[in-house]
Amino acid sequence: MATTEMKNLAIETQRLTKRFHSGAGVVEAVRDVSLRLERGEFVAVMGASGSGKSTLLHLLAGLTRPDEGTIRVMGADIHALSDRGLTYFRRKHIGLIFQAFNLIPSLSGEENIELPMLLGGEAGDPERVNSLIERLGLQQVRKRHPDAMSGGEQQRVAIGRALVRGPSLILADEPTGSLDSANGRRLCDLFRELCAESGSTVLMVTHNPVVAFSAKRFLILRDGQLVGQFDKQDCPSVQELNRVYVDLLENSQSGIAS
Ligand SMILES: Nc1ncnc2c1ncn2[C@@H]1O[C@H](COP(=O)(O)OP(=O)(O)O)[C@@H](O)[C@H]1O
Ligand SMILES: [Mg+2]
Repeated sequence: MATTEMKNLAIETQRLTKRFHSGAGVVEAVRDVSLRLERGEFVAVMGASGSGKSTLLHLLAGLTRPDEGTIRVMGADIHALSDRGLTYFRRKHIGLIFQAFNLIPSLSGEENIELPMLLGGEAGDPERVNSLIERLGLQQVRKRHPDAMSGGEQQRVAIGRALVRGPSLILADEPTGSLDSANGRRLCDLFRELCAESGSTVLMVTHNPVVAFSAKRFLILRDGQLVGQFDKQDCPSVQELNRVYVDLLENSQSGIAS
């Protein structure tokens, strides 16, 4: 691949495999996954529960190491980095949105959002914090502590915290899981804007076709394998996306990726 082309990739994996060993035997949570995301892309990963979506995100964030295969993120071979190098890389480039919100109970909504800047030794950026609070619809809870917020509000504060430093790559695991549909739509709009305005790349895990439809491209995982990937133009409506998704989950055979 030409160097310029590589530079335009946010993520490139080759034959990525991750196994877990348990009493019952070995589970291949991610199996032979090769994928590419260009910078500025908004891509949704869909799959049933247990299909390996979270494990894939953890691999891409460098939170767990693959058993086989390679991962390049923003051009770097992340698993060649030392633990410290990886921590630094993650802080600099990646915004992680997980299913567990892990907010600091003693800080307000606004302070939780601002925290990564302060921890990074940077000056706060009230303008950016305010803009995120507004775009995420968190005005009501900016001064409130997490124990006085709903689950959806806590999730949105955690999203604000992940986005506050303007990460070039956003990895989001079921980010709308606790949100009502209006806030879910608002978040997807925000992701689309971040891709268009700041050239951020978003990889969002969801099993909801309505949410996934806001992305430009869809990847479908089944039993750890990538069984389908297609662009929005091949799938012009939510109904069509849902039909293709259900069809792939029911009919795809191991080892076949279209
Ligand atoms: N830490 C772990 N130890 C053992 N098995 C795991 C671990 N994490 C995930 N798995 C297994 O790997 C498979 C994929 O899990 P996961 O990536 O969480 O799927 P998803 O996010 O799509 O629901 C499941 O069978 C799950 O039980
Ligand atoms: Mg998961």
